[in-house]
Amino acid sequence: MKYMFLLLVAFKIIDKKFSKLQEVMGFQTSHSTTRLSQSVFKTKEDSIDEIPLLQRTTMNSTDHTQINTNFIVTEYDSWVVGHPSALVSFDRMMKAATGKRIVVFLDYDGTLSPIVNDPDRAFMSDEMRAVVFKVASYFPTAIISGRSRDKVKDFVKLNNLYYAGSHGMDIMAPLIPITPSDDKHFNIGRNKNGIEVPFQPAKKHLPAIQEILKRVKNAIKEIKGAIVEDNGFCISVHFRQVQEKDYGVLEERVKSVIENNPQFCLTEGKKVMEIRPSIKWNKGNAVEYFLDTLGLSSYTDVLPMYIGDDKTDEDAFKVIQSTEQGYPIIVSSSPRETNASYSLRDPSEVLIFLSWLAKWRETSY
Ligand SMILES: *[C@@H]1O[C@H](CO)[C@@H](O)[C@H](O)[C@H]1NC(C)=O
Ligand SMILES: *[C@@H]1O[C@H](CO)[C@@H](O)[C@H](O)[C@H]1NC(C)=O
Ligand SMILES: [Mg+2]
Repeated sequence: MKYMFLLLVAFKIIDKKFSKLQEVMGFQTSHSTTRLSQSVFKTKEDSIDEIPLLQRTTMNSTDHTQINTNFIVTEYDSWVVGHPSALVSFDRMMKAATGKRIVVFLDYDGTLSPIVNDPDRAFMSDEMRAVVFKVASYFPTAIISGRSRDKVKDFVKLNNLYYAGSHGMDIMAPLIPITPSDDKHFNIGRNKNGIEVPFQPAKKHLPAIQEILKRVKNAIKEIKGAIVEDNGFCISVHFRQVQEKDYGVLEERVKSVIENNPQFCLTEGKKVMEIRPSIKWNKGNAVEYFLDTLGLSSYTDVLPMYIGDDKTDEDAFKVIQSTEQGYPIIVSSSPRETNASYSLRDPSEVLIFLSWLAKWRETSY
């Protein structure tokens, strides 16, 4: 116990020093001076946000106050000991990366862009775009989002990286020449003439998905604030703007659409329910697919990094973990159950991490 306390104190000192360092270096650290009060506020908000709807409906207000105790700050501090800040650990991480082939995987919402009320307005900043461009010019880089592939590309607007939409169910594979023997996906990702076509493992479900889309739109049309988003191979029902009293009926309506239909399943992310085809294909498979098509899966010196903030990113974290030398990094400002090894608080810290990564490449080669 005493030992743990000392560890926390030590960590706090390092963390403070680090914030100072960032300030000196001119990084935008609006949170560094007011960090404590802000993190308390943020943590409370996020904690409630992240309780799955399915559990929340059986909770009462007593449970809510239990979550908001003053112990929450300590909770984050002890959590971050197990999932160290990728900024605090940067030097150590990059020391281990020297000479390795780094590949960068990025989620979009909540990672490169802030989570906003209107999902159509989740724009990334020009500053973030510039940094992602730089990183992608140094390392193979892919964005793996739950959005449709076209939509995430419209948000990011960069041509020097790869895109996967629908949680990895719609992948535009790299244009790197590969031989069929290198790549078990060769015949899937290319057409007869060797021309690239998107890899879409749920393609045969498309008519059924479109039918479900119509039905879910109809089922929830009276619920104020609910937004249905067509993500190509999956469907999102956003409820960030729905009144809490309507959560129950919303969930019921959405569930009723796929009831008795084992072809589809329902998952939940940050204030969003997602209907997706029940195929065994997730963001983790998408990471493996990219490593294959990049021609990297047979090398032992590959170091994949994955930065993401939501439940669907956990599948990718596990795949990165299994490579034993990759860096799965979660974006979270509150303690979370996760298979990521490192953490960043929010997109502003992702920006700093990526800019350091680019700078590291510029100075270390
Ligand atoms: C709600 O709170 C009361 C205490 O006020 C508790 O006895 C009860 O078990 C709680 N109900 C649920 C469903 O957790
Ligand atoms: C982390 O991985 C373990 C083992 O595969 C799994 O049981 C657990 O659910 C994962 N945690 C999260 C948050 O996904
Ligand atoms: Mg996300």
